Amino acid sequence: MERLNAIKYKAIMNNVPIMEDAGILFCQDFIRSHNVVNILEIGTAVGYWSIAMALLDSKIKITTIEFSHARYVEALMNVKSFNLDHQIECIWMDAKDYQTDKKFDLIFLDGPKAQQLNYFNLFIDNLSAKGTILVDNIDFHGHVANRSELVLRKNLRHMVEKIAHFQKVLEGNPNYITHKYDVGDGVLLIWRKYPESIDCDMITKGESR
Ligand SMILES: C[S@@+](CC[C@H](N)C(=O)[O-])C[C@H]1O[C@@H](n2cnc3c(N)ncnc32)[C@H](O)[C@@H]1O
Repeated sequence: MERLNAIKYKAIMNNVPIMEDAGILFCQDFIRSHNVVNILEIGTAVGYWSIAMALLDSKIKITTIEFSHARYVEALMNVKSFNLDHQIECIWMDAKDYQTDKKFDLIFLDGPKAQQLNYFNLFIDNLSAKGTILVDNIDFHGHVANRSELVLRKNLRHMVEKIAHFQKVLEGNPNYITHKYDVGDGVLLIWRKYPESIDCDMITKGESR
């Protein structure tokens, strides 16, 4: 769609990081095939991903959090220009301070890359029993696989070590199933292995997907 592409190209021109096309298509397929309705996104940027997902179905509701005020304002404008304010709630906040009782079918961790494990722990209780956590940039431009070559780039090395650690911790956790997909910059999906063990209001109320 032309208007969505305009948001994408403006973001690219302004060095605002957004999900790659292959990742967007992957997420759209996932959301359609899993009947995802409620989504939490950490890291709105200018709203590109949220808008691309909300356009799939008017049932989809997205809460998205961004701590840069300039990006939040631009996201608000973009969401409004698509008349999606009733589907996308943009929140200007540091995601580490966000608290809610809501449960989400999909939680997209796309904020600070070195903090993925902290954000996973912070929001896991907001994941519906059969929900999915989605993590983008799990390959971080190929650096995660080749991190031994990053000896001189300390900050980058620190970040890719953290990404690799996050993936390793989740893979080693018997309560979760992880699957990495080689799309875009690498997408990791995480599910609960024993969703029936979760005491989830949404299930008892019959509202789960
Ligand atoms: C990769 S971009 C998000 C791209 C967006 N998901 C998309 O694909 O259109 C990551 C965003 O997370 C934001 N961010 C970083 N740390 C954050 C935090 N602690 N709380 C909220 N947002 C944060 C950054 O300002 C940046 O805009």
